[in-house]
Amino acid sequence: MCGIVGYIGKRQAYPVLIKGLKRLEYRGYDSAGVALITDTKGLEVYKTKGKVADLEEYVKDKDVSGTIGIAHTRWATHGEPSSTNAHPHISCSGNLALIHNGIIENYTVLKEALQRHGVVFKSSTDTEVLVQLIDYIQQHVGTDLLTAVRLALRQVIGAYAIAILDRNEPNQIIAARKSSPLVIGVGEEEFFLGSDASPIIEYTDKVVYLDDNDIAVLRRGAKEAEFINFDNEKIEHDVKTVDLNLGQIEKGGYPHFMLKEIFEQPQALQDCMRGRVNVEANNVVLSAVIDYRKELLNARRFIIVACGTSWHASLIGKQLLENICQIPAEVEYASEFRYSNPVIDSRDVVIAISQSGETADTLAAIQLAKERGAFIFGICNAIGSSIPRATQTGCYIHVGPEIGVASTKAFTGQVTVLTMLALALGKARGTIKNEDYVRLVQELDAIPEKMKKVLEQNDRIRDISRVFTYAHNFLYLGRGYNYPVALEGALKLKEISYIHAEGYPAAEMKHGPIALIDAEMPVVIVATQNPLYDKLMSNIQEIKARGGRVIAIVTEGDEKVKALADEYVELPKTVECLEPLISTIPLQLLAYHIAVQKGKNVDQPRNLAKSVTVE
Ligand code: G6P
Repeated sequence: MCGIVGYIGKRQAYPVLIKGLKRLEYRGYDSAGVALITDTKGLEVYKTKGKVADLEEYVKDKDVSGTIGIAHTRWATHGEPSSTNAHPHISCSGNLALIHNGIIENYTVLKEALQRHGVVFKSSTDTEVLVQLIDYIQQHVGTDLLTAVRLALRQVIGAYAIAILDRNEPNQIIAARKSSPLVIGVGEEEFFLGSDASPIIEYTDKVVYLDDNDIAVLRRGAKEAEFINFDNEKIEHDVKTVDLNLGQIEKGGYPHFMLKEIFEQPQALQDCMRGRVNVEANNVVLSAVIDYRKELLNARRFIIVACGTSWHASLIGKQLLENICQIPAEVEYASEFRYSNPVIDSRDVVIAISQSGETADTLAAIQLAKERGAFIFGICNAIGSSIPRATQTGCYIHVGPEIGVASTKAFTGQVTVLTMLALALGKARGTIKNEDYVRLVQELDAIPEKMKKVLEQNDRIRDISRVFTYAHNFLYLGRGYNYPVALEGALKLKEISYIHAEGYPAAEMKHGPIALIDAEMPVVIVATQNPLYDKLMSNIQEIKARGGRVIAIVTEGDEKVKALADEYVELPKTVECLEPLISTIPLQLLAYHIAVQKGKNVDQPRNLAKSVTVE
């Protein structure tokens, strides 16, 4: 949801900024811009509609000298994508350039007040009000930039990560954060800024994560960044070492991040389980369960809050927690939960699931649950992000950076953590028989190898996808643990191929979707040999009887379903509750290949953003 980059130091800023924008393009890509204090002309701003590559093209013949600059890639909220609405925004005086990620909620009030004082706005964004307000304070109160920023932010309601350049103070960048992520990279007499650490790690592994209401001053030649709050009090921050390497954020020979991330899943799950699943000792250990045993074991109820793909993982988590721990679990869309006046108290444990750790709705749901006294457990991927910092405890999924906008390895990582959580709690509560526990630990440990077997069928899935690119609608069916997999498969297809797809519990087909079935609408059905196998077989018969075309996800060697289906993909056998970890993979690959066949931009699907930091 908008990417921010900044640089001040001895290097030429422009190449650092452009590279950084490319790394952050997953956050938004409808327009991009850069502001530089150049060697000759002072403050220069170049911006254009389109992707970072379009910005590069636009800037080709321009002066890109200078060792200080800020840059932005946008996902529009207020104001259509256009070069005028692109960031950086310039103040009336022409002195200031500002980039912003977030939403200014009271921008109308502020804008009208500034307009009454003669300020002329150029764009239709909420962001412009920030730069005009800071400029107005500078001009009329006669303060330096830092004071003007501090005074301005005290009047602003909303979420923001911002960075500002002042042509009259060319040796500093000022940045600030509230509810939107911002990281500072600390190099040798140079500083970097990023919405996450990915634009920074090429140059330094030393970072500072800003907290809400922090203002940072990055001065040329300084060894350390300075931090103050809105009351002008000094803030101390530890410099952290970020454990991320370039290989993790590059495509590594794959045509798309999404495909790379799908193929990374066996390794990602091993990383997720490392030090937690001990197959020799037949044990699962989660430090959060040791540290917060009382809160978790005595939970009256789990309420899982999440959005998008993380919400689908939550539906699987509900079944795992109820079946293995015998504790009631509910799943809520974070966006609904936050406005729902929920009946919760200190006996409830709220589990917040988020890949990015920055989703605004999930953060707001956590805030509400906290206010009502619930214990909050986070399941996140992005280390140091806002959700892990807002929760009492939790587990990282440790699957490495996920860059493709359509989530893949984060989903299986989330389901793995939920499985480990259910096993650790179930054992401690005595709600799972020892033999079942041992079997599940063994089977969980074997999942990465089974995933590889599914991935080996990639070519076959690509061939299947070629047959179905004609379709305008798809139906995805599954039951039990595989019902959320059907939802996730449909979401993947919608997100990247723009084909309409619906996920349904297979038995519900007869209550509506069956009316849609004809030769034009492919039906993907997860029909593995689990307790509801016979019923799934009947569903396939019902589809075939109506001329429907079936792509079945079947258990290895199941000749019966293979003979019935038009196309099939085989899955190695595993226990029912772990099936989502492997049954999801063919659906990810199917969506990927259909989107590629249709010539869609898989890693940057239209209108979407990876990290939704606005409501
Ligand atoms: C966006 C992304 C989805 C993601 C959802 C929740 O919509 O495009 O892929 O599932 O946000 O994100 P989170 O980071 O909270 O898991």
